[in-house]
Amino acid sequence: MQVPISPVVKLENHRINAVQCRGRYRLPAAIPAVGLGCTESVSKMIRIGVIGAGPNAAGHARYFARSGRSKVVAIADPDLNRAHALASECQASAMEDYRDMLGDVDAVVVSSPNFLHHEHAVAAAKAGKHVYCEKPMGLSLAQATEIRDAIAEASVQSLVGFSTRFTEPVQTMLRLSGSGQLGKIISVDSRRLCNVTPAPPKHWRHNPSLSGGLLYEINIHEIDWMLAAGGPVESCYARSWAVDQQSKLSNDHIWVILNFKSGATGMHEGSWVSATPHYYRAIHGTSGAVATDEWGATVYYGEPGEERRALVLDPHFDLRGNFLDTIDHIAEPVADATWGLEVMRVAEAILKSAHSGNVELIGSASDPVPVRA
Ligand SMILES: NC(=O)c1ccc[n+]([C@@H]2O[C@H](COP(=O)([O-])OP(=O)(O)OC[C@H]3O[C@@H](n4cnc5c(N)ncnc54)[C@H](O)[C@@H]3O)[C@@H](O)[C@H]2O)c1
Repeated sequence: MQVPISPVVKLENHRINAVQCRGRYRLPAAIPAVGLGCTESVSKMIRIGVIGAGPNAAGHARYFARSGRSKVVAIADPDLNRAHALASECQASAMEDYRDMLGDVDAVVVSSPNFLHHEHAVAAAKAGKHVYCEKPMGLSLAQATEIRDAIAEASVQSLVGFSTRFTEPVQTMLRLSGSGQLGKIISVDSRRLCNVTPAPPKHWRHNPSLSGGLLYEINIHEIDWMLAAGGPVESCYARSWAVDQQSKLSNDHIWVILNFKSGATGMHEGSWVSATPHYYRAIHGTSGAVATDEWGATVYYGEPGEERRALVLDPHFDLRGNFLDTIDHIAEPVADATWGLEVMRVAEAILKSAHSGNVELIGSASDPVPVRA
């Protein structure tokens, strides 16, 4: 089926599409639009528990409290002041121990520190709850496998928080490459350089054993969308640099080459210690290319021999709305635990290559990587 292409506009006219309720969810035409700003409801209110009450959990809690189709009933955080503050905003109960919410919810959002994702996601699935797990899906392929297995055994829905892929620029790029408009994909490029200030000094994010370093904490988003663009990966080669070399997960700056099974090549450079932030993304094909500006905000489209043009961007795709849709059985998950496991498989191979200095094979279990952009 021919996928329609967004109109191209001159840069000065560049704007982001207004988000329409139906467009936000990308529902099949026969299904009524639901979600933020809409009054229709397709089922009983979905009862949500949130593990963690940090800034990221607060974003999730506010969304699910206001969606019109879900309500937040519990917030768990050992920092009870934080839990209470967020719980009172959402009219939910606050608790120190996440296990106290498991009997009272339909779904759990895991937004605790990275080193706790495995414990929290497995416990939620084993209690029969649908699981929205923040990235990374644990701190190893083994942990990700256990999360996926627990979810599969419980037959619950799952979603991994790969939010970068669902932003307007990346959605636009993936739609054009997925529609065949670019021809056969030759390369997928990503550069995500930033500077994360190490404050407070003992925060888990700055301990690679607890966060997984740059790759697992932030740039796994880039591996996610690169796989969505390029498909399954056969092998990878990587180098990394880190201030603190003590953990096998240490990485502050990485360089990655992905050899896609299709024959395309992926290139990624990432850093969270860079003095010059840079967020460049591109997909090159045999008959066209899409590439962003240095902030990853404007998407240009070009065909060989033609001047590039800035595109009107596709709407942001609502990942949390998709999670509710999967629970209501009106949509397929766009990034479930099976997909998240394949992202972790590649991410772990990248760190392995960075340490071994060798090209690392990804393994045959990654063959059926589902590509759901
Ligand atoms: N998908 C995205 O775009 C995105 C963006 C930001 C953060 N994140 C992820 O969200 C998670 C949280 O990030 P943050 O910035 O809010 O971190 P944070 O450190 O600010 O907050 C984490 C919270 O978890 C609490 N916590 C610690 N142990 C706990 C336990 N045993 N049970 C329940 N809560 C516990 C802490 O007290 C803290 O309040 C991380 O995994 C991070 O990678 C994802």
